Amino acid sequence: MPSDVERSSAGEGLGMRDFWLYAWLRRLAVIAAHVTGLGLTLILCVLSRPGTSLLSWHPVCMSLGYCLCMTEGILLFSSEGSLFCFKSRKSKVCLHWLCQALVLVAAAIGLGFIVASKDLSELPHLVSWHSLLGSCTLASTVLQAGFGLCLIFHKQLRLTTPPPRLKLYHTTCGLVVYLLATMTVISAMFSDWYQATVKGAVWWVFLLLPLFPSLVVMNQITNAYLPRKKITS
Ligand code: HEM
Repeated sequence: MPSDVERSSAGEGLGMRDFWLYAWLRRLAVIAAHVTGLGLTLILCVLSRPGTSLLSWHPVCMSLGYCLCMTEGILLFSSEGSLFCFKSRKSKVCLHWLCQALVLVAAAIGLGFIVASKDLSELPHLVSWHSLLGSCTLASTVLQAGFGLCLIFHKQLRLTTPPPRLKLYHTTCGLVVYLLATMTVISAMFSDWYQATVKGAVWWVFLLLPLFPSLVVMNQITNAYLPRKKITS
């Protein structure tokens, strides 16, 4: 007997021609997400001129962690345009872990640099929207990693929560982390430091860049994991 709550693809109900166009557009969007994720990382790394100050390493580490590793760590599960489409599901999970571990390492180093930089300049901590959003992003990243660890070591930890529920927590938390990270990167673009570096129309273009991968990632997560109500007559 069919269940009335089933997973369905967002393209359901389309004709064959529309379906191919839709599938092609989705593939194009995922490719563009790879390009914008990598592009944003490169732009932020170049703009921050790493090595010129302690602060300069903060955007480098954070963009490498969140814009590159986290984006690729999620997009590798995409059926439309993963760079690792030739790998088995098990290999993808391993790569996902590797990417997320790199996010944690990069975030810890990036945090270390900004705290050291502020201490050295005797500036107060956590006084901007960016720093508050950044702290929430870091805290939710740790929580997210915790859910992931519970999932992988479910048996060893003798957890009573069933794995599908843990998976839902892990994915939902992942969505929140990615959204927070996007907001944090966007808020960084309002900092005095960044506004002194990038001005005019380019600033507006760069401001929109983080939105693109985040829309694709959100679409991927909601389509793949969150069940939709299928209307049955
Ligand atoms: C998701 C990625 C990021 C996270 C989690 C993050 C986190 C943080 C945190 C927690 C602080 C406050 C440190 C303190 O008050 O002691 C901070 C400060 C700062 N960050 Fe980020 N950051 C991220 C990305 C970026 C990017 C991409 C840039 C540059 C484009 C940047 C530029 C700055 C600057 C200039 C400060 C010092 C001024 C301020 O406190 O607002 N951050 N960041």
